[in-house]
Amino acid sequence: MKYDILTIFPEFFDSPFSFGILKKAQDKGLLEINTHDIRVYSEDKHKTVDDTPYGGGGGMLMKIEPVAAALENVKKTGKKSLVVLTTPDGEKFTDKMARELADYDQITIICGRYEGVDERIRDLYVDKEISIGDYVLSGGENAASVIVESVSRFIPGVLGNELSPQNDSFNQGLLEYPQYTRPENFEGKSVPKVLLSGNHGDIDKWRKTESIKRTFKKRPDLLDKAKLDNQDIDFVKELKERNSPSFKVYIALIHYPVYNNRFKIITTAFTNLDVHDIARSAVTYGVEKFYLVQPNPEQQKLVNRVLKHWINGEGSSFNKSRSEALNRVELRNTLEDVTREIQEVEGEKPTTIVTDARSADNMIGFEDLRELIFSEKEKPYLLLLGTGWGLANEIMDSADYRLKPVSGYTNYNHLPVRSAAAIILDRLFSCKI
Ligand SMILES: C[S@@+](CC[C@H](N)C(=O)[O-])C[C@H]1O[C@@H](n2cnc3c(N)ncnc32)[C@H](O)[C@@H]1O
Repeated sequence: MKYDILTIFPEFFDSPFSFGILKKAQDKGLLEINTHDIRVYSEDKHKTVDDTPYGGGGGMLMKIEPVAAALENVKKTGKKSLVVLTTPDGEKFTDKMARELADYDQITIICGRYEGVDERIRDLYVDKEISIGDYVLSGGENAASVIVESVSRFIPGVLGNELSPQNDSFNQGLLEYPQYTRPENFEGKSVPKVLLSGNHGDIDKWRKTESIKRTFKKRPDLLDKAKLDNQDIDFVKELKERNSPSFKVYIALIHYPVYNNRFKIITTAFTNLDVHDIARSAVTYGVEKFYLVQPNPEQQKLVNRVLKHWINGEGSSFNKSRSEALNRVELRNTLEDVTREIQEVEGEKPTTIVTDARSADNMIGFEDLRELIFSEKEKPYLLLLGTGWGLANEIMDSADYRLKPVSGYTNYNHLPVRSAAAIILDRLFSCKI
């Protein structure tokens, strides 16, 4: 692998590549790392490499001509080459990307400085833009050094032991298991017995389990893509159950006061499918109770008939899981009845969140709301869903939060409330594993 690094500070790289694995790999001829001083290619007498941005604004930008000339001077070798720009708005650098880049014969890395580079450098010369993380460095040199070091680990022969990168974190999508070396006991902390057993089957099993546990705890997002067999999946399920987060969320489906299509306040009729489906979603996502707010006495009779059938009647023995779901449904006359009841049970008034298909100012996003609810585990939250043409303004205005609408990329936004409820609950309370 040949790396060509374009920088205005070539001396930066004197140290990072001059010892350890990278030094040995260069000595063995497995890597060639060249730095190119961009300033050398500046044509003006002051060797300027930066200029003010068109349109004004603070800071300077790297000019295109010296970078273009430096790139021209990079000798092409091998069949597969790539020009990389280090930039905070690039694709996030990962273990997977490092593995893919190791397949190239030559990688040229442009290190930005100042406020970044003239956009045409990206347009004309760059194949891949890479960010090493969501923070801003003063220059691309540290990023280039990170890229070179991690990519090189995947080049055959660079690491003494060919197996090492296979056991490292991120391989198979998991973090690495805990490792120990001598002494066997240090200040009362002993090495796990299984590692001393000499039984490699048991050791492999223990390591896999510990990898899964560690990934579950520290980076659950990785488990989604990890290579797991059926036994591992069962273990993840067990971990999920053991570690399920506690939060206190209630939902209420409001049939009054809501709008009709002429924006008049009405009471809507209950929909059997909504009751069943929202109740099932509520149980799936850990909602405490699903309230139906329906003041109309005739409608209440109907609801009660349905609930009775599934909770105590024939339906309960016919379909137990449906019975469990409908058991979580409570019928109340007004929203005030619901909030009062939650306050009595929880010891404090619930924080209310309204939902609507329309956008408005100061809405809360799903991630923020999820974080809020998960961070205030003991606080009750009440999520309000409308029927008809949506919740009346008096409910919207008195709520603590208004949640952003769920939407696709189209302008059609007429989801049935049971679909909206399922999507909202999934975005807020899904187990992302
Ligand atoms: C001060 S930064 C420019 C930041 C730029 N104005 C912005 O807001 O995106 C200067 C240079 O540092 C490098 N750099 C900064 N943060 C980086 C990151 N997270 N990953 C990769 N390169 C980075 C890039 O080469 C960038 O051109």
